[in-house]
Amino acid sequence: MVVLAAAVVTKSGKAVISRQFHEMQRSRIEGLLASFPKLTSAGQQHTTVETEHVRFVYQPLDDLFMVLITNRQSNILQDIESLHLFARVVTDLCRSCDETQILRNSFELLCAFDEIISVGYRENVNLSQVKSSIEMESHEERIQEIIAKNKEQEAKEELKRRAKQFEMQRKEAQKRGQGFMQGNFNTNGGGGNGGGNGGGNYGNNGAYSPSETLPSMRESTPSYSRPASHSTTTTTSKAKGMQLGRKPKAADLFDAIKPDVEEPLIAPTKHTNQDSVHIDIEERVSVVANKDGGLEQMEVRGVLTLKISDPASARISLALKANDESSIQFKTHPNVDKSAFKDQHIVQMRDLSRPFPANQNLEVVKWKMSTKDETAVPLTITCWPSPAGNGTCDVNVEYELENSDLELREVVISIPLPAEPTAEVTQADGSYFVDRARRVLEWQLPVINSSNKSGLLECSIPGDDANAFFPVTVSFISDKLICGVDVLDITNVENNTPAPFSKEIIMAAEDYVIG
Ligand SMILES: *[C@@H]1O[C@H](CO)[C@@H](O)[C@H](O)[C@H]1NC(C)=O
Ligand SMILES: *[C@@H]1O[C@H](CO)[C@@H](O)[C@H](O)[C@H]1NC(C)=O
Ligand SMILES: *[C@@H]1O[C@H](CO)[C@@H](O)[C@H](O)[C@H]1NC(C)=O
Ligand SMILES: *[C@@H]1O[C@H](CO)[C@@H](O)[C@H](O)[C@H]1NC(C)=O
Repeated sequence: MVVLAAAVVTKSGKAVISRQFHEMQRSRIEGLLASFPKLTSAGQQHTTVETEHVRFVYQPLDDLFMVLITNRQSNILQDIESLHLFARVVTDLCRSCDETQILRNSFELLCAFDEIISVGYRENVNLSQVKSSIEMESHEERIQEIIAKNKEQEAKEELKRRAKQFEMQRKEAQKRGQGFMQGNFNTNGGGGNGGGNGGGNYGNNGAYSPSETLPSMRESTPSYSRPASHSTTTTTSKAKGMQLGRKPKAADLFDAIKPDVEEPLIAPTKHTNQDSVHIDIEERVSVVANKDGGLEQMEVRGVLTLKISDPASARISLALKANDESSIQFKTHPNVDKSAFKDQHIVQMRDLSRPFPANQNLEVVKWKMSTKDETAVPLTITCWPSPAGNGTCDVNVEYELENSDLELREVVISIPLPAEPTAEVTQADGSYFVDRARRVLEWQLPVINSSNKSGLLECSIPGDDANAFFPVTVSFISDKLICGVDVLDITNVENNTPAPFSKEIIMAAEDYVIG
């Protein structure tokens, strides 16, 4: 899940306070919050609403709203749970939930928000823990003051260091700000929150980096969300967008904020309209490689799922493309004609007069491939940590696409940060992001294909045990499969005519582990 921002807004969509957990332009967050009240319809009990790119999860707080802006891949149940905690924190810290009280307590509130979400991810905390850590902070502050008085010299040094750091941050922000003004939309560089603290407050001047899309893969890999399941919600949110256009006043406002709202926060999801016969073909690949990058085991598991929504089109036979390589073992559903599949790669009922069951996800063919052949691996990763002799390691990570037929998308290579959740990246293709909560350096590559097969990341990471930088884990998705199974055509066996169908193909890394 990725929470992009937590805000308290008025009924008209004005932000009272807003905390961004990802770099976000002020105008963008204001635009999103301004559009939010128009997406919610009065009198409805919903707590979430989606646009094409984001989801708002919200609940009323007297005359205000507590709103979380998340990406659409975010885990909605967890977000609702987080929302409740945010609301409880706000009501607990403010005597009454009105603008004045919220503003008066804004500092504590923002600190509390940071306890709940760190760089977009939920921290495992409850209300009493949030409260006690805020109290601890103010307690610590008092102790700090005393120490500062007693050790003036030390404090001066600290101030100098902070001033220098601040100056660096300011220059960095300026650089990024200029890049943005010149329209150099940051497509792969810059890298999220390069080790910074949990995202920026209002006025953070960072350009959007699409790296925001990537953390969501972690959520979606175990059971990657079917893009199609989004199609209905998208249509409704689009329809709402159009309704906005009808009211002249709202339309002006909507136009004014449109450039901000409409820019994709999230990589566009593929929308397919499902025919009455729909095919899903999925493959999950697991790889275990050793620290030197040598392959120990690779396994691919695939499944072809048939979904028939109209019983009238259920008497069909599917002509498949399937590789006869002995390394791939196929299995068919017990009701599927085994010999037709074996001899001709045709999937049909054993009893041709019977239809396939409708309105269920029918796993008709499964396959499995295991190999120790290094050339079969989609992507090889080499991670070289070398101790620098001063408590840090220089870590070089390289990737190479071994299978040039594949195009891997949303690739995330996660390197453990054993000692402290920081990394000083000196060179990187693509972008990177320090996930402090998970204590990993995420190296993010939007696309790896034959035009750009390899890349390098060089960094210095605290820790002197080279073994502690393993296991490196990898996630990605692809529209192409490793075993190349496909549905060529489908025939209606009642009248022997071609039957229309839709299909989706996806391959994803499941357990892809090095070391
Ligand atoms: C909050 O979490 C702490 C630590 O897990 C636990 O001791 C405490 O009982 C929890 N409090 C509530 C109100 O759930
Ligand atoms: C450790 O040494 C490396 C290489 O000499 C250097 O790049 C790095 O900045 C040093 N780190 C610290 C914390 O001194
Ligand atoms: C290759 O991909 C990397 C990572 O996405 C990117 O930084 C680099 O610019 C690409 N190189 C070319 C020549 O496209
Ligand atoms: C590889 O990906 C890049 C970026 O999406 C694209 O421009 C290029 O055409 C792709 N190359 C091939 C061979 O598909």
